Amino acid sequence: MKSLKQWSLRNKVILHVLVIGIITTLVLIVLYLRGQRNIIHSVSRQKAEVAGLMIENSLFQAMKEGKPEEVQDIISQTASSSYIKKIRIISAEGKILRSSHENEIGSSSEASIQNKLKELFSNGTRSNIYFLKPKSTIQNFRLIENRQECYACHSPQAKINGILEINVDYTAAAILLKKSQLKGILIGLVSISILIFIILRLFEKLVNRPISRLKGNMKTVQEGDLNIQFPVVKHDEIGNLAESFNAMVKKLREANQKIEHLHSQQMEKAEHLASIGELAAGLAHEMKNPIAGMKGALEIIGQKTDPADPKKEIFNEILLQIEKMHKVIQDLLSYAKPKEMSFSLVNPNECVENAIKLAQPQKKSKDIIFHFQKLANNTLARLDADKIQELMLNLMLNSISAIDNKGQIDIKLLKRNEKELEIIFEDNGKGIKKDHLSQIFNPFFTTKSRGTGLGLSICKKITAAHQGSIQVKSKEGKGTTFLIRLPVLQQGD
Ligand SMILES: Nc1ncnc2c1ncn2[C@@H]1O[C@H](COP(=O)(O)OP(=O)(O)OP(=O)(O)O)[C@@H](O)[C@H]1O
Ligand SMILES: [Mg+2]
Repeated sequence: MKSLKQWSLRNKVILHVLVIGIITTLVLIVLYLRGQRNIIHSVSRQKAEVAGLMIENSLFQAMKEGKPEEVQDIISQTASSSYIKKIRIISAEGKILRSSHENEIGSSSEASIQNKLKELFSNGTRSNIYFLKPKSTIQNFRLIENRQECYACHSPQAKINGILEINVDYTAAAILLKKSQLKGILIGLVSISILIFIILRLFEKLVNRPISRLKGNMKTVQEGDLNIQFPVVKHDEIGNLAESFNAMVKKLREANQKIEHLHSQQMEKAEHLASIGELAAGLAHEMKNPIAGMKGALEIIGQKTDPADPKKEIFNEILLQIEKMHKVIQDLLSYAKPKEMSFSLVNPNECVENAIKLAQPQKKSKDIIFHFQKLANNTLARLDADKIQELMLNLMLNSISAIDNKGQIDIKLLKRNEKELEIIFEDNGKGIKKDHLSQIFNPFFTTKSRGTGLGLSICKKITAAHQGSIQVKSKEGKGTTFLIRLPVLQQGD
């Protein structure tokens, strides 16, 4: 079953309206019923009081005329009224002296009534009228004072001659009350149902339908149609939402147009660069062999020239320049037309060691120490050994040129986890300027007068071809660290 949070807005509104409606109806019904009962009790008390007063006066009149036997007739006549159940006169001792039910005359009254009598007689300060409310009845007790009119039959010493008890029956009124209670409950339930119905209709019209339409439009936008507009009919919250939606779609449309424009510009640029790159690569390829030929020829002429001959120096200088041209062409070709990758299970330690060997002559007169922390257990990895060697050599050549006279290059080969190999390459050279850090992997970015700016972009290509990554951290004046991560395969995998 769905939790309350997952309920639709519509069902939540139904639940809340229902709960609030039921609670309100119940409270109203209880208040209404109480009010009705109080009215019935009050009317019954009034009836009891009027009857009591009437009987009391008739009693005193009968006593005055010396006709005490008339008292029973007065009681019987008054009790013949349909709403009076019983009238009795009870002595202070609880004995029934007169009663509309003549058969109980002379017997003792009920224990509960005797207790009430004791209370009435003992408490002089209390009112001489007392009411009880047993089921469907109002019981009215009145003290009958010992007046002069009574002295003919009663001793003048007594203060009270007895108690007049009048029972007023309100069963008929109670039946009427029940009927009206039922009506009240029915009216309450019908009103709450109508209220719920009206609220739901309003909710459906004002909230649910516009939201469903908005949802549909959002789906259309999600599917890529940005030409949709939501009609703003009213300026309430839903209207505001529709306006915001339209504004959002407009912005999306504009952004989309901009992206499309930029994309086509980029594509044009890329095509342009690609054709220039192809041209450059073609040129480099064409120049590679003639330059190699020139280099060979010059080396032979140089060997045959007498060391004391002043031309020897010129030959050496030409040879140096040709070597530089050769390197530029080599780098350009390696970047523009890289050789196909050839993966095999190799020992990564060997790639690094070979690169260190190749880098040695480049140190020239600089005092640079290489520290290499090998990978343990001769772990094998599926790599292109030549490319990894080229990558390491490029990093080493950069470090060598970043170290002025004396320095250190630390290389650590580690297994980060079962799936990844990590190379931490660190030098204490002059470091890279903060502004340059984001550009060093861009092709042709260089700060060197004789650099091509292709070394690190080749490194990035090689790591990407291995599905690995290369990152740099550097502090000017302190040194540079490259972090390379490559996926690894165990021997036998
Ligand atoms: N270890 C390093 N220390 C200081 N600067 C570095 C280091 N490595 C790279 N750089 C900076 O990054 C730039 C780009 O390096 P990259 O290897 O791509 O080109 P290059 O060395 O200038 O030329 P190329 O390698 O093609 O001969 C360098 O010119 C240099 O400014
Ligand atoms: Mg370089």
